Amino acid sequence: MRTIPKFMIAGCAMMFSGPAFATCTSEVAKDDLTDEQVVELYDCIRDSLREGYAKEGGQWTSDYPSWGETSSQPVAAGTHGNRFLITFVNETGHAEYVKFSDERGPMPAGSVLAKESFNLNKKNQVQKGPLFFMEKVAAGNADEYGNWVYSVVQPNGKPAKISQKFCHDCHGAFSDQDSMGYPDEDYRITSQ
Ligand code: HEC
Repeated sequence: MRTIPKFMIAGCAMMFSGPAFATCTSEVAKDDLTDEQVVELYDCIRDSLREGYAKEGGQWTSDYPSWGETSSQPVAAGTHGNRFLITFVNETGHAEYVKFSDERGPMPAGSVLAKESFNLNKKNQVQKGPLFFMEKVAAGNADEYGNWVYSVVQPNGKPAKISQKFCHDCHGAFSDQDSMGYPDEDYRITSQ
């Protein structure tokens, strides 16, 4: 497991909680879940999660499930409210992303990264989390933020009001990785 600096974990602990989704529950608490149990919970919530994201017809919300995967399963990496996270990358960016290079130039303009999220609450019920996006735009369009445009869709499909600065203050710390955090090393998919 990779360790993540503490300031990053604290950063967005309470971001956009979704309603509990009582039909998907766990026998054990979040910290005791095995990888297999995380996958079972994901299998349970996935369709409903995706239906919610796509409900308002937001950009990419119905396309991203067909994009390339980047990890073998959702993992709680510590950031993004310590939710379970799983990232998909569109065709423009996927081959570059899955190099997981830690010394890289900019991703191709037009790359879009989408990250689903969910959590397990204190009652061991699955709780839907937001869908996070990063879009790489052509140089000069968002220089201040590494030419990334950040956005968030809530579990009900509505866009969340976010600050580019808030997202990039943390992402920009991954300066050798073109501001991308990448999934936990133990779960990365390098080719499909
Ligand atoms: C406190 C630090 C922090 C903040 C704030 C943060 N992120 Fe992240 N983000 C990470 C880390 C670390 C990862 C990689 C972990 C993972 O995906 O498993 C990541 C991954 C992502 C990814 C997947 C692509 C990648 O590898 O970087 C997207 C998309 C994303 N974040 C969007 C956002 C958006 C949108 C916001 C603002 C609403 C945001 N993030 C705020 C730390 C942060």
